[in-house]
Amino acid sequence: MKKAVFFYSWKGFTRKVAEVIGEKMSADLIEIREARERKGIRGFLGGILEAVRKKHINIVFPMQKPEEYDIVFLMTPIWAGNPSPAIRTFVEKTNWADKKTVVVVTQGAGGNSYTEKIKLFMENNQANVLSGIYFRDKTPEDAIREKIDELKRGIKDLGD
Ligand SMILES: Cc1cc2nc3c(=O)[nH]c(=O)nc-3n(C[C@H](O)[C@H](O)[C@H](O)COP(=O)(O)O)c2cc1C
Repeated sequence: MKKAVFFYSWKGFTRKVAEVIGEKMSADLIEIREARERKGIRGFLGGILEAVRKKHINIVFPMQKPEEYDIVFLMTPIWAGNPSPAIRTFVEKTNWADKKTVVVVTQGAGGNSYTEKIKLFMENNQANVLSGIYFRDKTPEDAIREKIDELKRGIKDLGD
């Protein structure tokens, strides 16, 4: 079974979780990058505006496509209650038809409600969402590992 993790990370936490998923699920790691480097307070405030306005931004599209995989982990940090602009752009310009997808959200605070929102976002883009999970950005590595193990046990389709 071919698996991939598609992720965007500005500050590195989502990347850290992506690496654990990649290792534990034997999945390819595929980073979505912004075409322009995001920096400082302007990058932060601009990011909030882009997220709230649901704007598309310039990203570097990866060579790999979700349709090449059996299962895709789609990861985004939450920005102002929304998917990050890089991930919104990638998702809305990519074919997800019936793709088995596990939504993985990172966030600074709060509970499950962002995950539900991103699951719906993926369903609206035709993905077949199997499950969703979230991580707060200060979660220590051993707790991340434990949660990924639990996710793996919980999703039969992820079995090797
Ligand atoms: C522009 C911006 C907006 C954010 N908005 C939220 C938010 O609405 N709710 C929340 O819980 N965390 C919010 N965060 C925190 C991030 O979701 C969280 O720190 C995430 O893990 C960052 O991932 P990264 O280190 O991979 O960039 C925001 C962060 C940024 C940079």
